[in-house]
Amino acid sequence: MHDVTIKTRENGPLLVTGPIRLTDHLGNVYDLTGKENVALCSCGQSAKKPFCDGTHRACGFIAGEIAPAPPPPPA
Ligand code: FES
Repeated sequence: MHDVTIKTRENGPLLVTGPIRLTDHLGNVYDLTGKENVALCSCGQSAKKPFCDGTHRACGFIAGEIAPAPPPPPA
């Protein structure tokens, strides 16, 4: 079992579940106290980056990638 799961949302953010430490590009830590889930913007349009603020719904963001099937086991 994994401690952290990152789930892509169709046409939406990356939903991160589990204990994480999120920093900005300078290494400053975001306060995630009390948050079990964090939605990270993947559309680039949020006014609250790196967090999703729901703008993806209004900007026409399309992302429906599906993870590829695992390769077959070796024969
Ligand atoms: S993914 Fe929600 S605002 Fe960008």
